[in-house]
Parts: sequence; structure tokens; C-alpha cells
Amino acid sequence: MADLRVDVLTIFPELFRGFLETSLLGKAQERGLVAVTIHDLRKWALPPHFQTDDYAYGGGPGMVMCAEPVISAVEDVRESDGWVVLLTPQGIPMTQGRVTELATRSHIVLICGRYEGVDDRVRQLVVDEEISVGDYVVSGGEVPAMIVIDAVTRLVPGVVGKPESVEGESHAAGLLSHPQYTRPEVVRGERVPAVLLGGNHAEIERWRHAQSLHRTIQNRPDLLSIEQASEAEKDQMSDTAPV
Ligand SMILES: C[S@@+](CC[C@H](N)C(=O)[O-])C[C@H]1O[C@@H](n2cnc3c(N)ncnc32)[C@H](O)[C@@H]1O
Repeated sequence: MADLRVDVLTIFPELFRGFLETSLLGKAQERGLVAVTIHDLRKWALPPHFQTDDYAYGGGPGMVMCAEPVISAVEDVRESDGWVVLLTPQGIPMTQGRVTELATRSHIVLICGRYEGVDDRVRQLVVDEEISVGDYVVSGGEVPAMIVIDAVTRLVPGVVGKPESVEGESHAAGLLSHPQYTRPEVVRGERVPAVLLGGNHAEIERWRHAQSLHRTIQNRPDLLSIEQASEAEKDQMSDTAPV
């Protein structure tokens, strides 16, 4: 059995096709580390009309996804170790910390909303956690579900070849990552910083850490802990200029 099983409930299963087959996730599934199953919610729609959405009680401009098909689908696909997540802009914003916790689970069920959202009784009756991918609204839960699957999958042991690749990434240690360069050495007159060519690993590490601090101060000062902020203040006065 795969280390992580994910079941996705959606009315647009076709959106996941390329995503599931490509790159890390495609390989993780081939190697049996992760198993993602996409379910068409229409399969659980009720006769006589097999509707998955209906008008909002109380009025309003758009349709609302019906509770029964979603609840029945969750009841069918959820295993005893299942954790049910509703993708919603009203959820707790996702962070690397939340992703790390989700990656310890063995079975995740993701519910993708559409239109004005999902009948609230779904949240009340079967949802364990509501996740938002950010303080903005997209048209459906499918892209947010892909973000969750991608972020969680890369933390499953064995999916990313070298564990240090994920350990040193932005947000993993509370700082943004340092800048990266590849060949050639000069691009339109811009040279790779000399320190990266010198082969002195201690110097390189020091430079990278300083650049991480600079980048975090510049783009995300809210991420800095008190110790990191004072380290960053000292670093700003040191000889390591931001690139
Ligand atoms: C157009 S949105 C509905 C927004 C809803 N009327 C509201 O104001 O909260 C349709 C669906 O897209 C998904 N969605 C939109 N923005 C999202 C976000 N930031 N995070 C997670 N899911 C989101 C949810 O599944 C939602 O049910």
C-alpha cells in the first residue's frame, strides 16, 4: 500500500489529468509511494435529476454544491485513517507547517468546491479541516487541491531524491531560500557571485545564510523570529551585500 493515499472529490475530474502524470508526482505514483484517485462527484448524485448543485436558500446570485452527493462520496472513499479536508477560501491559510503535518497522514480526502461553495452541512458533518491556499478566491477547489497534493507529496520520504533539497527550502526553516545559479557563469553581463565558484564550503554556507536573511527581510519580514531578526540586523551591517 502507498505511504500516502489521496482521494479527490470533484465535478471536474479531467482537470487533474496532466497534473497527475507529470514530474515528481507521476514518478511517486509509479514507484508506489503515493496513490492519488480522482472521483467524479456526479457518481453520487441522486435521482431523478442527478444534480450536484442547486439554488441557495435565502437567495443569492450563484449555485451551491449539494450536500448529499459530497457526504455520500466521503462516506464511501474515507478509510479508517482518513482525514477529510475541504478546500475553501474561508479555511485556515496553508503554511509549510500545515503541509508537514498533513504529510504525516496516510489517507487524505480532498473536497473541491465550485460556484458559491459547498452546502455548509458538509463542513458540519464530515470535514476534519478547512484549508485555504491564500487570501484570494479562485473558481474552484481543483487548483487548491493540486497545490495541497504537490506540497504534501514532496515531503513523503523517497519522493524527492535528496532529503536536503526539501530541508533547505524556503519556509522549511523559517527563512526564504538563498538565490540559485546554474551555467553559464555570465548571463547578459551578470556574473555568478564569486564565492560560489571558489569551492570553500564554509564560505558558501555563510554567504547563502546571509542572502536568505536579506531576502527574508526584503520580501517577508513577518517570517523572522526575534533571534533571526537580530541576526539579520547584524548581517545588514556586515560585508555581505544582498544580490
Ligand atoms: C468561487 S469559490 C466560492 C467562494 C465563496 N463564495 C466564498 O466567498 O467563500 C468556489 C470554490 O473554489 C474553492 N476556492 C476558492 N478560493 C479558494 C482558496 N483561496 N483556497 C481554497 N479553495 C478555494 C473552494 O472549494 C470554493 O468552494
